[in-house]
Amino acid sequence: MLIEQEDKVHTELWRISPHMAGLKSSIIREILKFSSQPGVISFAGGLPAPELFPVEEMKEVTTYVLDTFGPTCLQYSVSRGILPLREDLAARAVLRGVATKPDNILICSGAQQAIEVIGRTFIEPGDYILTENPTYVGALQAFNISQARYAPVEMDKEGMIMDQVADMIEKYKPKLVYTITNFQNPTGITMSLKRREQLVDICSKYNIPIVDDNPYGQIRFDGEEVRDIKAIGGDQVISLSTFSKILAPGLRIGWMNGPEDMITIFEKVKQCTDLHTSTFSQYLCSEFIRQGRLDRQIARIKPDYRQKRDTMLQAMRDAFPEGIKWTEPDGGLFLWVELPKHMSAKDLLPKAIELKVAYVYGQPFFPNGEGANTLRLNFSNATLEGIVEGITRLGKLFTENM
Ligand SMILES: Cc1ncc(COP(=O)(O)O)c(C=O)c1O
Repeated sequence: MLIEQEDKVHTELWRISPHMAGLKSSIIREILKFSSQPGVISFAGGLPAPELFPVEEMKEVTTYVLDTFGPTCLQYSVSRGILPLREDLAARAVLRGVATKPDNILICSGAQQAIEVIGRTFIEPGDYILTENPTYVGALQAFNISQARYAPVEMDKEGMIMDQVADMIEKYKPKLVYTITNFQNPTGITMSLKRREQLVDICSKYNIPIVDDNPYGQIRFDGEEVRDIKAIGGDQVISLSTFSKILAPGLRIGWMNGPEDMITIFEKVKQCTDLHTSTFSQYLCSEFIRQGRLDRQIARIKPDYRQKRDTMLQAMRDAFPEGIKWTEPDGGLFLWVELPKHMSAKDLLPKAIELKVAYVYGQPFFPNGEGANTLRLNFSNATLEGIVEGITRLGKLFTENM
């Protein structure tokens, strides 16, 4: 009681920035609080499968790193990121056709920090960012810190619709284009090669940087790879990625790959918030790459996630009533569901939670607040039995509320 009163007094009496006082907590993290309760089948978070974390290997690599690098791996380190890891990531980018040197890489505390740093660097209050509609809610949250506004562009199964991109650029003069080209969060859609080329052409013409947030590109389990937009657009593109989905999110290691002069600026912005990313985690990631363990780990998760996706899709075909549509992604962690227009996924969530199933309703992913009838399902985190059971329960719920 006393604490509650004190909270109120502080937030009311101290002159905190009105903008920060108005910040909203991530809806996903709120829903995760319910969904982590025992017995709840969760399709809510973007969590990797916990049973696939390489715990024993992590022990071996930890011992190796401590034995080999000793105090260095426990010390402060440079803001840009330790050289061995930047060398490893540059070499991997080159293999994907992206001309990259270690100085093009800035290691961040997750891709989330990279998004926030880019927002702070480019955006003045009221500036526009062109995004997909819907887009990753965590990016909206990070860009909101800089008081961005949004020019959201509709998607079809090939990604952003390019006619709308050109119109939006003319109308809103966005400072950035933010896209998730591979297995987009939340829809699972992958941008086609043609659209990538068109996006690069348009953005080069208007000289607008493209931020390609790419945590899922390496988790393709079906279909042909599509050329990286960074390989097409070169310095027009800043690409972001992370170890979170391919190794372990708890390490908090992500990175940007961009033009060297911009990386120097981003490095200073990052420095203001955390000096540098965890030295120890960086050494662990670097050794996972150098010892061939990262590629083995990626090879391990792919068949598992494919099986989970297939199980979820089959369960949906069996349990969901007519009139519900969904995406069928070739990789990543999510698929996207559209209920009939008159249904609200937000209103149905408390009922789903009573049935001990959790999902994330779609509205927060829309910068301008549409999408009441949509929801996102994660297929990587639940067990196969949990997927069938959870989807069956959702099927009953949707049928009763059609
Ligand atoms: C598109 C996208 N970008 C960034 C992130 C954040 O990743 P990280 O854990 O590296 O901060 C996520 C996490 O779900 C994501 O889906």
